[in-house]
Amino acid sequence: MNRLCRPVRMHIASVGVSKFCFLFSLAFCGLLLLLIPALQPPARQVDLPQPRPQVRPAQAGPSHRVRVPGVSLHAGETDSATELSRSSAGRTEGTRDDIHSPKRGMDSKRGAVPGGKGGRFSGSRSRDPLDFKDIFIAVKTTRKYHKSRLELLIQTWVSRAKEQTYIFTDGEDKELQMRTRVNLINTNCSAAHTRQALCCKMSVEYDKFIESQKKWFCHVDDDNYVILPSLLGLLSSYHHSQDVYLGRPSLDHPIEAAERVKSDGSVSLPYEEILAPLTYTAVSVKFWFATGGAGFCISRGLALKMSPWASLGNFISTAEKIRLPDDCTIGYIIEALLEVTLTHTHLFHSHLENLQKLPTDTVLEQVTLSFGGFENRRNVVSIVGGFSLADDPTRFKTVHCLLYPDTNWCPKLEHSHIN
Ligand SMILES: *[C@@H]1O[C@H](CO)[C@@H](O)[C@H](O)[C@H]1NC(C)=O
Repeated sequence: MNRLCRPVRMHIASVGVSKFCFLFSLAFCGLLLLLIPALQPPARQVDLPQPRPQVRPAQAGPSHRVRVPGVSLHAGETDSATELSRSSAGRTEGTRDDIHSPKRGMDSKRGAVPGGKGGRFSGSRSRDPLDFKDIFIAVKTTRKYHKSRLELLIQTWVSRAKEQTYIFTDGEDKELQMRTRVNLINTNCSAAHTRQALCCKMSVEYDKFIESQKKWFCHVDDDNYVILPSLLGLLSSYHHSQDVYLGRPSLDHPIEAAERVKSDGSVSLPYEEILAPLTYTAVSVKFWFATGGAGFCISRGLALKMSPWASLGNFISTAEKIRLPDDCTIGYIIEALLEVTLTHTHLFHSHLENLQKLPTDTVLEQVTLSFGGFENRRNVVSIVGGFSLADDPTRFKTVHCLLYPDTNWCPKLEHSHIN
């Protein structure tokens, strides 16, 4: 400041301007300074609203949202930009109601039901088609399922996407890696099925995706079959630079979570309690999340924005802050912190659904399938092909042979109605 002011004063003194003139010019400059902001606004407001593809319908609704204006948020901070209140009424658009209707799934050949906004993305379809190699597929598994689950995936869909599939596990398996030549990543995370261990793996998945430079991040579990042509078709209807978060909500209402308060740390809520639609305190946050068991996808553009809460171990501290599992934490970062809406799709399926209810003629149009579940080992998609239920209890081999009949281990059967 001083360095700027001194030459001006010296100049004034040397010319010998009177005190009056000096004060007058100061006043004049002050007046000019006051006028500048008054002239600015019309020009500024024109370029301020960035064309955000995901305009939140709730903003137009009656819900009032209180936002702490602190812009740079760090996972460690207790009072980050948390929505203190968000009415659930504001978020129940018509589109949310039809997520369970199987008819919509059949209708939409492309796959997605983009939030019910119809052609919300249709105008911005990318001219350059999405290349299959631009998709990063993360498979989350654990050492004890390498034989029983992973081998089946590697034999089936992973064999068709080896280059872009990354398997995240918690133990070494050099033999499997050498034999199958898959990308097997030992996360060094705990093998326990705890929130911390799951979040640890998700954190490594995120970092590996960012490192990969690929355009889409898709996460699936080791009990998912990924129908690759459907996945490519679905992602092709969006652009990776848009904010896109695609998946199946596991609940029919947004989750409500209490943020952990640092002062005494006494607010400890088990997952089951949080899933119940209860209101705990005024400091709560509501958001939708895509269930990890059905798989979900995130565009690179959105993934990059998640970085402050997701990269380099920040994901774990973010999850600790709200004490929720990995998939909920993803939803928290995207919906609650970044205010990007989950695009609900029913083309992703987890073992928590009744998979037999999926119409047989739509099975191959889905994006992910699953099998089993705690209560029902026979919970599988109903599809008929070259394998009996005894030979193919998950139905994954049957699905695979219908999709890729040229596979060498597929029974030679006529499936003219499929092709
Ligand atoms: C896990 O540990 C091994 C050995 O220390 C290391 O080489 C590897 O990079 C680690 N994996 C990750 C994902 O950090």
